[in-house]
Amino acid sequence: MSKPSKKYISIQKTIRSYDYEYYILDDPSISDHEYDELFRELKQIESEHPDWITPESPSQRVGIKPENDFDTFKHFQPMLSLANAFNEDDLNNFHDRILKNLGADKQIDYFCEPKMDGAAVSLIYEEGILVRGVTRGDGNLGEDITSNIRTIRSIPLILKESKSPFPTMIEVRGEVFISKPDFETLNLSAEKNGEKIFANPRNAAAGSLRQLDPAITSSRPLAFFAHGIGLCQGKKFIDLQEIFSVFVSWGLPVNNLNKLSSSIDECLNYFKDVESSRDSIPFEIDGVVFKVNELSLQKQLGEIARSPRWAIAHKFPAEEVHTEIEKIEFQVGRTGILTPVAKLKTVNVGGVNVSNCTLHNLDELRRLDPRVGDGAVIKRAGDVIPKMVKVIPKKNNRADAVEPPKKCPSCQSAIAHNYQSEWTIFDTSKSMPVKKFSSSYEAQKFVESNHSENLSVLEEHLDTPFIKCTGKNSCPEIFQGKFTHFVSRKAMDIDGLGQEILFTLINKKFIKDFADIYSLSEHRAELEKLERFGEKSVDNLIKSIDKSSSVELYKLVFSLGIEEVGETTARNLANIFGSIEAIQKSSFEDLIAVPDIGPRVAAKIVDHFADTENIVSLKALLPYLNIANPDISASEKDMKFLGLQIAITGKISPMSREEVKNLLMSEGAKVTSSISKKTNFLIAGENAGSKLEKAKSLGVRIIEAADIKSFINDPKKFL
Ligand code: IVH
Repeated sequence: MSKPSKKYISIQKTIRSYDYEYYILDDPSISDHEYDELFRELKQIESEHPDWITPESPSQRVGIKPENDFDTFKHFQPMLSLANAFNEDDLNNFHDRILKNLGADKQIDYFCEPKMDGAAVSLIYEEGILVRGVTRGDGNLGEDITSNIRTIRSIPLILKESKSPFPTMIEVRGEVFISKPDFETLNLSAEKNGEKIFANPRNAAAGSLRQLDPAITSSRPLAFFAHGIGLCQGKKFIDLQEIFSVFVSWGLPVNNLNKLSSSIDECLNYFKDVESSRDSIPFEIDGVVFKVNELSLQKQLGEIARSPRWAIAHKFPAEEVHTEIEKIEFQVGRTGILTPVAKLKTVNVGGVNVSNCTLHNLDELRRLDPRVGDGAVIKRAGDVIPKMVKVIPKKNNRADAVEPPKKCPSCQSAIAHNYQSEWTIFDTSKSMPVKKFSSSYEAQKFVESNHSENLSVLEEHLDTPFIKCTGKNSCPEIFQGKFTHFVSRKAMDIDGLGQEILFTLINKKFIKDFADIYSLSEHRAELEKLERFGEKSVDNLIKSIDKSSSVELYKLVFSLGIEEVGETTARNLANIFGSIEAIQKSSFEDLIAVPDIGPRVAAKIVDHFADTENIVSLKALLPYLNIANPDISASEKDMKFLGLQIAITGKISPMSREEVKNLLMSEGAKVTSSISKKTNFLIAGENAGSKLEKAKSLGVRIIEAADIKSFINDPKKFL
């Protein structure tokens, strides 16, 4: 292989700097014609010396089409999402929480940015060279879309050298988007060519990034703004302001509306300024983002429920649109709850076509009193589901009020009110209520630990505004809903089992239980005989089922559809217990020690795993699965409390017990409510009682209230 000529290297460099002028500075110094001429010269040299071409050459943006699907890629540091503020109060609360968490009334600088309405991506640069581009995915696992990312002209394939040396490796986080004028042009040409029109620039950007053919992505007018970092090795930053100015020096595009504020009031002014100029900003934004500028403070604040405590999205008020109510239905969910839903004359609200609007429950139905033929005002903010704000009653011949059904609209089973139970302990000697509990377990425990013959337990049903189908698995909606949830992206993620195929397989009795999905390959011949199930489609189906059998524990837990167990709770369960068997065996007490799990949810989990049908179903399913117990990832290695078991007792301040617990958990600690030999530390607040005594007797290290902050900062000092 010959050495690339100086001329070739210099043309590459010149093109790169013209690209920078054009795509980043928006200020080209040469004409398009001169640029094209130079590019032609580059291609000419490359055709004579193909061995000189490296992936970083400006000619190499559009690569070849990958074979079938994108590979998954695990982010080195998770891509979190942002909590929202909708008004001034929310914003002030955010600031107050930060001050409280940091334990001091200090001045905080916030970095302010527009909230881009695009698709989040992570770009990995090694020694300044772009090596990978990944979608956000579920925040942990994204899709490797490197070949599509490389087609975006404003994303440098090589960073510009500057005074600031390149890190060995950095995850640059940012937003891929399409500007308003480019979006219009794109849709105009789609319309002309009889192609699908995009509902909004965000969908167009996200859809373009997931094209298998990079040539298609390349034809879409995608742009990029960097808005943060993930893992960064071989370089230390002090604050966001520094990160953004280093980004600029490396030729990475950043939003020029970004600004540093030195108070929360200044943030509010920033919000108002950006809001008033929203229409003249050439890209869609749905609010602004405020981030604590200093990285050390960010680290101290940590995260909660997949959102950093140090950042918030202040959203613009939602757009409101008027439409008409065509019908009101009751839809049966996978738990059997019947939800009233209004069917609307389709309207576009904030870039999305809306034709359904949930009315949530009977209280909301009575409050709004929507009737067929009435007008309705609908609002929708960003990714939030549409909400009915107001009903405008029809003037004449108004329809009757909607009554809840007496029978399930799907299976005709009886409808029951969904009660919530409450358990009251009575002292029979005094005929007095002593204590109330929201779970029978706690009530029972209280009685047992009090050794009194005078205590009795009374279960009371509290009404809720929900009604429920009593048909259980015999109700097709409940049954199908359970499987739709099981195969969905955030659960077992079985791509090939779309609703139509899934329901066909259920109706034809191929799928009667979760395990049946994984033994479908044994029924190949029968499947191929079904209408629209050729050899190829059965192949693809079985492949995607196979792929899903390697599953992360939290996804499996989520997919079981345990009532009240959402994604975050499933993650917490997986992190704390580490295996499905341990979760199955967990007691009520073990469960309430998990963050975000209160007595009601704990009881639901215990009930789920005590149910014979569920036991049998899970037992049959497990042999088919290869459950990943995720090894300690790069970010977890840095967790300060990983492997430590910590108990908390007594009253603590200024942080609440819940806050301390969450902070410890987010850094890898296992926080328990009881003390055993395995406990490493007890955090003992005011009036710590028997637990403190027990800890002392077991030789557990005690952290006093005054030391909590320094313990959280550096637990090693206390080891
Ligand atoms: S920062 C931990 N900055 O909003 C902080 N996000 O809900 C996470 N987004 O997935 C992201 N503009 O797609 C950040 N200036 C901005 C943003 C922004 C838009 C999106 C991003 C992210 C979502 C978070």
